[in-house]
Amino acid sequence: MDSLNNLWKPDYLLNIELIDTQHRGFFDICLTANMLCETGRRSKIQLQELIHILYRMRGYAFKHFHTEEALLLDYNYPKLYTHLRLHDQFLASFQVFTEEIHGHFSENKTPDPAVVLTCAEHINEYVVNWWGDHILTADKEFSEFILAQKKRKT
Ligand SMILES: [Fe+2]
Ligand SMILES: [Fe+2]
Repeated sequence: MDSLNNLWKPDYLLNIELIDTQHRGFFDICLTANMLCETGRRSKIQLQELIHILYRMRGYAFKHFHTEEALLLDYNYPKLYTHLRLHDQFLASFQVFTEEIHGHFSENKTPDPAVVLTCAEHINEYVVNWWGDHILTADKEFSEFILAQKKRKT
């Protein structure tokens, strides 16, 4: 897994300011998750801490996808639907994580910190990889389309 300070990379810049800012903001949440994992390797972490981060990621993803999809709609992006489906797949994976956590901890007993850590690591690794790959491929593609459109208008 990435070290604490290099989750965001300059390669992720798309030159669309609002989108770049939001992308970076998401990696800040991933950094918090990464720190939780670091803590979990040294001492016990609580399930509540993981759930809190998971909900922050989920809310932020909703906000970002809404911003991005509105922009793609504005620009009549030809691959809008394909892009939307990729966002939906990400959100669906959150549902899987939520169910996984519920499955582990549904009984009325104190969650095992080692299992909480494994869940946190699994989720964080998936999210960081997905977000990075998505920016470098699908988001990069729409940004090139939008920047070309902007250039044509000037
Ligand atoms: Fe996207
Ligand atoms: Fe994005």
